[in-house]
Amino acid sequence: MKRVKIKDLLHNKVETGSDVTIKGWVRTRRGNKNVSFIALNDGSIIHTIQIVADVSVFGEETLKPITTGSCICVTGKLVESVGQGQNVEIQAKHIDVYGTADPETYPLQKKGHSLEFLREIAHLRPRTNTFGAVLRIRHALAYAIHKYFNDQGFYYLHTPIITGSDAEGAGAMFHVTTLDLKNPPKNEDGSINYTEDFFGKETNLTVSGQLEGELGALALSEIYTFGPTFRAENSNTPRHLAEFWMIEPEMAFYDIHDNMDLAEDFLQAIIRYALENCKDDLEFLNKMYDNELIERLKFVIENKFIRLTYTEAIDILAQSGKEFEFPVKWGCDLQAEHERYLVEQHFKKPVILTDYPKEIKAFYMKQNDDGKTVRAMDVLFPKIGEIIGGSQREEEYEKLSQKIKELHIPEKDMWWYLETRKFGTAPHSGFGLGFERLILFITGMANIRDVIPFPRTPLNAEF
Ligand code: 4AD
Ligand code: MG
Repeated sequence: MKRVKIKDLLHNKVETGSDVTIKGWVRTRRGNKNVSFIALNDGSIIHTIQIVADVSVFGEETLKPITTGSCICVTGKLVESVGQGQNVEIQAKHIDVYGTADPETYPLQKKGHSLEFLREIAHLRPRTNTFGAVLRIRHALAYAIHKYFNDQGFYYLHTPIITGSDAEGAGAMFHVTTLDLKNPPKNEDGSINYTEDFFGKETNLTVSGQLEGELGALALSEIYTFGPTFRAENSNTPRHLAEFWMIEPEMAFYDIHDNMDLAEDFLQAIIRYALENCKDDLEFLNKMYDNELIERLKFVIENKFIRLTYTEAIDILAQSGKEFEFPVKWGCDLQAEHERYLVEQHFKKPVILTDYPKEIKAFYMKQNDDGKTVRAMDVLFPKIGEIIGGSQREEEYEKLSQKIKELHIPEKDMWWYLETRKFGTAPHSGFGLGFERLILFITGMANIRDVIPFPRTPLNAEF
């Protein structure tokens, strides 16, 4: 008999009275001498379905290996449930045990393990309610993002993961090489001779798909990327991963205001999608981890974001009377504590900050006429801080090439990027959304390691 998913049974897609086959992992088995109640979950939905097994039919010995964590296949009759908590249940007629889970050693014997402990068993944690919920929401958000851009006429551009350029100029990259690290070929001056490497040059894992994204936008008008990005910064915080996923739309003919409009509409649309399509999982997370979660999500889609300049924000912070760990003065990079003060205490709304000092932003941002600031925009969210970073891009060849020289970025790595400004340049803008930061916000989880199946952080790449 064809397997039916538990989600379809609980959503009444199958008529009661019919025989069904379900497969999944046992959460609990309890009962008495006469009857056994098995709670089964197959990951299709957060809830379990109850299986009722008559001990006189199956015998104690058959039921014994059906313990928490074991995997079984059950055929039986779907009936209306008399017990509370579920509308239907299954009266078992046949049970196969696919895999046992020794109660002495199976680590997920009980509920309520700490998230820290679960990180150590990342191979098993998807079987918990929490990670099931997070992973289903993660999937729904990825789908919603593709759907949003497709509906708006954007094209999904696959930018390379191995690159020869440093998009953010941040310098914290993972090298990609096939050279023998114990005995690499050397130049006369002792430096490594990369012409003998696989690509004939030095290459890295990408920190952003933006530069290649711009090439796409200057041909297809509106594109987005959605892929893994890598940063070798040694930042052990609840908001940083060494490998994270980023969504980067890039649009020809958009100025910074169009860019902000898109970012706001996009974020609200994705959050609305989650509220409408991930109800059960969000309600679980709201109950277990963050009682204000659903309220906060609704608040963000119902209120316009505040827009102000970096300079205005510095004034607000300076006059706040608050003692920050990092003192505030014009020119400083904003820290999470500053961003969160603006969002959570001052405005109590998401904030988009623009026009940052040029010294603290990347080389490609459009220079303002004041000579001091660039047309950057960061979107700041409650509990998260920066969720999006973006800008209008410098489209003038002279200004961009001057900037590249000033920063000593090797022109041999950048000639193709500069050529877009030489041939048919156009005003354009874009931004990058950190996918895991978005998931953090939408799930209410507190640590970024708990919203990606297999986190990569300093000293951690076990699973
Ligand atoms: O602000 P960032 O560095 O911007 C860029 O990479 C631009 N090229 C984007 C663009 O304009 N196309 O990164 C963008 C976002 C951040 O706002 C943050 O949400 C996320 O990526 N992010 C990280 N998320 C997890 N771990 C890290 N180490 C992250 N670094 C950035
Ligand atoms: Mg940034």
